[in-house]
Amino acid sequence: MVPAEAAVPAAASGIAELGAEARRARASYGEGALVVCDQVVRIYSGAGIEVQALQGLDLLIEEGELVAMVGASGSGKSTLMNILAGLDTPTAGRVKVAGQDLGALGARERLAYRRRQVGFVWQQASRNLLPYLTARQNVATPMRLSGVDRGRRASLSMELLEVFGVAHCANRTPSGMSGGEQQRAAIATALANLPRLLLADEPTGELDSQTAQEVFAALQTANTELGATVLVVTHDPAVSAQVRRTVAIRDGRTSTETLRHDTADDLGNAVRHAVEYAVLDRAGRVQLPREMIEEHQMRDLVRLESERDHIGVWADQPAGPAPGGQNRPGDGPADGPAGTGQPERRSQ
Ligand SMILES: Nc1ncnc2c1ncn2[C@@H]1O[C@H](COP(=O)(O)OP(=O)(O)OP(=O)(O)O)[C@@H](O)[C@H]1O
Ligand SMILES: [Mg+2]
Repeated sequence: MVPAEAAVPAAASGIAELGAEARRARASYGEGALVVCDQVVRIYSGAGIEVQALQGLDLLIEEGELVAMVGASGSGKSTLMNILAGLDTPTAGRVKVAGQDLGALGARERLAYRRRQVGFVWQQASRNLLPYLTARQNVATPMRLSGVDRGRRASLSMELLEVFGVAHCANRTPSGMSGGEQQRAAIATALANLPRLLLADEPTGELDSQTAQEVFAALQTANTELGATVLVVTHDPAVSAQVRRTVAIRDGRTSTETLRHDTADDLGNAVRHAVEYAVLDRAGRVQLPREMIEEHQMRDLVRLESERDHIGVWADQPAGPAPGGQNRPGDGPADGPAGTGQPERRSQ
């Protein structure tokens, strides 16, 4: 028998090892990604009401990606954008952009982060541009705040307006520009200090579809020609269909991702394929799509069954013959551990 005093250090070192492993896993999560959201929680509390806007959200974005974010109103999209923009901080969890832990930034570092590392474009054009400055002055302002000299400011701001097709608006204030022109000048302004990350929260929300397409093309230019990693919130299916990766947020968590890739058909024409995946988070959680839950009348508890190449999810309803003539999990005495629906006979 192991003496009690010998068992204690062994157990303690086991726990210490587990702790060290968990810390290593946490530190290496998203290593190399430009944006790392690690179990991000944001709770708004006030007047006795608590809103859990983000509920343990995980998201990784690699440098160079252009990602669309979709989700119902109130699902937490703007909350996440504000945190990534350095305007708000999470209640719990960790957010890293370009290796900087946003929760650990002091006031000066936070200001530097907002000036140089990240650019943002909001839905309301009035929030993006200063109304009493011309387009060119608007673009030059972030450069001036970052200490760029006058000559370089003048040439760079003109270059940026040209890249986004609004050089003709250089000497106009926003009131003399169309909605689309304002948003394209706003993108030029957001990129004035060549940030690595460009955030756009429904930048096309107030525009007609043709103009929205032009603004989205400007975001693509920011991505392909200026090398910015772009995260764009949109309700516009035409926009989300044009990106390779669309992340859907539901109830403060990433729920599904649609990945698109192009192949060629027999005639050499490009064909785009889209595959929707459910997100499996690091705690092992998957959100089942609402339509599937309703179709299969699932609620409260479901049974899981591990098959050779997939996991079956079963509504907890009266047993009947399952598809393919198999028994439903829970049928008969061969049932395995409670709650898993894993029959012992499957361990063969
Ligand atoms: N400052 C705040 N104080 C309290 N609750 C807030 C605050 N900001 C957002 N919320 C709440 O947090 C939740 C998420 O809001 P958020 O603005 O992130 O949603 P959204 O996905 O951007 O929605 P929309 O598509 O309408 O813009 C909502 O329930 C919202 O009411
Ligand atoms: Mg929003």
